[in-house]
Amino acid sequence: MTHFTPRKRFVVALLAGAVATGGVQAEAFKKIAPPHLKEFEKALRLKPDIDNGRRLFRRICSTCHGPEGWGVPASGYPEIAGQLKDVIIKQLADFRAGNRDNPIMNAFVTPRVLTGPQDIADVAAYVSQLPMSPRNERGFALRIEEGKKLYQKLCADCHGDRGEGDPKRHAPRIQGQHYSYLMRQFNWIRNGYRRNANKKMQEQIQNITSSEQVAIMSYLSNLKPDHPVAPEGWHNPDITGYDRSWRPAKLR
Ligand code: HEC
Ligand code: HEC
Repeated sequence: MTHFTPRKRFVVALLAGAVATGGVQAEAFKKIAPPHLKEFEKALRLKPDIDNGRRLFRRICSTCHGPEGWGVPASGYPEIAGQLKDVIIKQLADFRAGNRDNPIMNAFVTPRVLTGPQDIADVAAYVSQLPMSPRNERGFALRIEEGKKLYQKLCADCHGDRGEGDPKRHAPRIQGQHYSYLMRQFNWIRNGYRRNANKKMQEQIQNITSSEQVAIMSYLSNLKPDHPVAPEGWHNPDITGYDRSWRPAKLR
């Protein structure tokens, strides 16, 4: 028979308490961060609050994706302005569910930062209506015609006639995206590093040569998007006091 001294009793009580509150916390976490599919589906159905979306964008996303959401190609930050709302929702939910790896981005989309489906819906709605960059990074102009033909044959059925994307398939808008980002994501999808990749796309692109890839991405990055494009020198009026000095000169 063990005798509990007051000190031991205190420790036991402390441990029991920790287990109990741990349980409560786990429950609370499930409520804010339901399994990925549910969160994704909820966010798609919610009515977005653009003002909250603007606040979240300003506080979190603009740090990396820039005040206009145009990204910084040399640093691997994609343009997110003008991306289809449903695609942004899906990508954010995928990052949160660990289906897409990015050590830089992951920390900023945890349930602490984006508290749930409503925040996701709000920020996605805000970002998707931003005008796109007039100066995205482009590939080789001489390869556009060849790229266009390959694109029509191998990609248009899902990404649309001109890379405008398809919300029903969650196929991203890829027209007017930065060339190096397109190249990298394509490689990652092809070699399975991007785990949320569309399996059918993965199969369909296995035999594309790297020269053909350069042509396709040159075509896409040189396309003028169907979404509104901002005039040269446009600055997002929603973001004031942003320090642009660290950004490459042509992106300030
Ligand atoms: C710390 C930097 C950082 C922050 C903050 C950040 N992102 Fe990102 N984001 C990235 C990087 C880097 C990538 C590219 C990931 C990759 O290469 O797989 C990315 C990718 C994305 C993508 C996928 C784009 C595509 O076409 O594949 C979306 C959508 C996105 N971010 C939205 C957001 C939103 C919305 C926020 C704010 C809530 C945000 N990001 C905050 C760095 C960041
Ligand atoms: C069967 C449909 C399908 C086909 C065919 C297809 N894609 Fe995709 N693609 C998708 C879907 C769906 C996604 C988004 C997957 C995800 O959530 O990661 C995607 C993602 C991408 C991305 C990442 C974009 C981003 O912003 O994250 C690139 C680049 C891309 N596709 C290029 C291509 C090119 C180039 C071709 C043709 C050679 C092609 N795809 C063919 C469905 C397809």
